[in-house]
Amino acid sequence: MIEDLWYKNAVIYCVDVETFQDGNGDGVGDFRGLARRLDYLAGLGVTCLWLLPFYPSPNRDNGYDIADFYGVDPRLGDLGDFVEFSHQCKLHGIRLIVDLVINHTSDRHPWFQQARADASSRFRDYYVWSAKKPRGAHKGMVFPGVQQSVWTRDRKAGAYYFHRFHEFQPDLNLSNPAVRDEIRKVMGFWLELGVSGFRVDAVPFLISGPGKAVRKGDPFAFLREMRQFLSWRCGDAVLLAEANVPMDEVLEYFGDEGDHMQLVFNFLANQHLFLSLVDEDARPLTRVLRSMTKLPPTAQWASFLRNHDELDLGRLTQAERKRAFAALGPDPRMQLYDRGLRRRLAPMLGGDARRLQLAYSLMFSLPGTPVLWYGEEIGMGERLSLRDRHAVRTPMQWSSEAHGGFTHAQAPFRPLVDRGAFAFERVNVAAQRRDPESLLNWIERTIRLRKECPEVGWGSARVMPTGDPAVLAMRYDFRGAAMLTLHNFARGPRSVRVAVGHDAKSSRLIDLLSHDDTRKTARGGHHRFELEGYGYRWFRLGAHDSAHQRVERPGD
Ligand code: GLC
Repeated sequence: MIEDLWYKNAVIYCVDVETFQDGNGDGVGDFRGLARRLDYLAGLGVTCLWLLPFYPSPNRDNGYDIADFYGVDPRLGDLGDFVEFSHQCKLHGIRLIVDLVINHTSDRHPWFQQARADASSRFRDYYVWSAKKPRGAHKGMVFPGVQQSVWTRDRKAGAYYFHRFHEFQPDLNLSNPAVRDEIRKVMGFWLELGVSGFRVDAVPFLISGPGKAVRKGDPFAFLREMRQFLSWRCGDAVLLAEANVPMDEVLEYFGDEGDHMQLVFNFLANQHLFLSLVDEDARPLTRVLRSMTKLPPTAQWASFLRNHDELDLGRLTQAERKRAFAALGPDPRMQLYDRGLRRRLAPMLGGDARRLQLAYSLMFSLPGTPVLWYGEEIGMGERLSLRDRHAVRTPMQWSSEAHGGFTHAQAPFRPLVDRGAFAFERVNVAAQRRDPESLLNWIERTIRLRKECPEVGWGSARVMPTGDPAVLAMRYDFRGAAMLTLHNFARGPRSVRVAVGHDAKSSRLIDLLSHDDTRKTARGGHHRFELEGYGYRWFRLGAHDSAHQRVERPGD
């Protein structure tokens, strides 16, 4: 067992610097503002921040169109502010990972500008060109409806360039060793400034398609190289991959020896969890959980409910997606790219506290490391009048003051949610702080509990038969400690019997969520559970309560 894998029991929180907190009164969130909110994040129990791209950018894709890999967008601060912030994170015991967007640059990046202006420039081969329009240019677009093609003619260059995403995001030619050197330099730069790793954007597109680093039939050679470089420079840094691919492919992103990415987002569990919520049937999620084979010891799933993009339901069947759309986002304005929903979680679940808790209890107990999108901890809503995915990227709602306390400026750079049940006057941090029953306080308690349960992050998990399709039971084992969680997807109460195990500790369960220290004893480890509609339970097996008995873990 490799010791000290900090990410196995981490709680990751994703922030877009520009929408979190304005610190200088210009209407845009910035590093100074974010630094002021570190106490809030530490109090919530977050142990690692993931920052969306904050680099200089024309900002046509929320910063995923980078014009300079070595700087900070001047609206958000400067490199000095970044270093101050990175230092403050350390003082708060919070690690930092940053987005690494290496599939493409902005078309404003000097590399592209030189590449198009001069065919003999060394930067020409940094991108992927074709003299004629290749066949199939209208296939493989990531943003159907917004994007017309994946090859666009550049007048100045007199040639077509490849772009998997928007036409202003030309793909880098990763088969060029000079480009791979540039990428290592970028990683080395941010590691020196104190980050603990990278969320790697669009990984499947780094290994297949025109201009990719497929060498000697090994598409993953480049990921391995990145990982080696990372680990030499900073032994405990991680790569967190965005890879929305089928289960039989996803294991390759970890690598057989765990020598590719340490963390991969679990897009399949995400999509099927939503289907289970919609169908009030645990089986779609159970099927995914059963297909999740054992990972190498250093590998870890990253579990999430919502992120900064649309809720992508593209891996469901058409009929399943139709049901999910009807239940979660029936208005066509809520739907995007024929596959997803541009909504936040709370409105999708009708603001129903019981269903929200069920969903979060699941997310925190899925085998892996939980990742929260900012504002989800207070149940923020979306603003559909904003274009495409911006609907879920509105400024953080801190209080009922003007602009939700996000800025003192006359107007924020992007409007807040200011109407309806999710308006900042109603849904905000200040109000929820005062209410012991609020979602914010519930999430804080649940994060505390999750951190006390290394069985979930470190252990092995098994789905246990319940005899009821609406109820999911999972058992986790780690170094002699064990837990059981139960989730009822149905709106009505359920009674189930679970054979928890034959050993002595399976006979005594301690309810970790109830207010008193409720114990359940059943001889032979066969327990009956009464669950209310959308009910959930976390039990530790054995004689000890979690809060008093810290489970030993590697690194202790
Ligand atoms: C990833 C990001 C998304 C971005 C795209 C292009 O999918 O999550 O927000 O638009 O990459 O970089």
